[in-house]
Amino acid sequence: MSQRLTIAIDGPAGAGKSTTARKVAEHLGYVYIDTGAMYRAVTFAALREHVPMDDAALGALTERLDIRLEPTADGQRVVLNGEDVTRSIREAEVTSNVSQVSVFPSVRRALVQRQRMLGLNGGVVMDGRDIGSVVFPHAEIKVFLVADVDERVRRRVLEAEQRGERLDVETVRGHIIERDKLDSEREVSPLVKPEGATEIDTTHCTIADQVQRILELVDAYQKTYSIVSAFTNF
Ligand code: DC
Repeated sequence: MSQRLTIAIDGPAGAGKSTTARKVAEHLGYVYIDTGAMYRAVTFAALREHVPMDDAALGALTERLDIRLEPTADGQRVVLNGEDVTRSIREAEVTSNVSQVSVFPSVRRALVQRQRMLGLNGGVVMDGRDIGSVVFPHAEIKVFLVADVDERVRRRVLEAEQRGERLDVETVRGHIIERDKLDSEREVSPLVKPEGATEIDTTHCTIADQVQRILELVDAYQKTYSIVSAFTNF
C-alpha cells in the first residue's frame, strides 16, 4: 500500500505554486493547503480592524482568527470567522501589505502551528515560502519552484485579468521584486530553497509539465519506500 506523503512546495510569488499544488493534490486525492492564503487572511483582518503593525497586536489577532480553507469545484474557498474572503484577500491592498505582516514572529508561530496540525496525518500538498524548511522539514517530497521575474509578472497580470481586474505591468513588477526581497531577507523563516528540495524552473514549463515532474518524484519515493518496507518486514 502506498504511504500518504507530505509534499512541500515553496517558491516566490508567481512561480506557479498554487495551481501546481492544487492539481498534484487532486491527482493524488490529497488535501491542498495554500498557506499564503492564511497570511493574506491575517493581513486582511489587520487592515480592516486597523490593528497596529507590531508583533504583540498582530500575534493576538492571529490567535483569535478562525481561518478555514475549503476545497470547492472551482478552487479553494477561504473563510475567515465565517465570512467568505476568497476574493478580498487577493485585492491589491492585501497583496501590498502581506509581506510586511508575514515578518512578525508571533504571526508565523501561530500559523505554523495550525499548518502542522493540518498536515499531521500526511496526505497533504502544502505550498508557501517556508514549508520544506520550517513547517515540515521532514516532508518526504520537497519542491522549490522558480521562474524568471518577467514570466512571473506576466502570470500575475493574466491571473488578475481572469478575475476581471486590469493591472499595470510595471507596478506588478515593482511589487513582485519588493515581495521577493522582503520574503527572502526577513529574519524569521525567510524564503530559501529547503535542504533536500528539488528545484524546478517553471519559466518555460506548462502546468501539466510541473505536475508531471512532481508526480514522478512521488512515484520514485513510493517505489523506494515499498522496496525498503519489503526488506524491513522480511
Ligand atoms: O503565495 P502568496 O503570494 O499568496 O503569499 C502571500 C505572502 O504570504 C507572501 O508574500 C509571503 C507570505 N507567506 C509566507 O511568509 N509564508 C508562507 N508559508 C506563505 C506565504
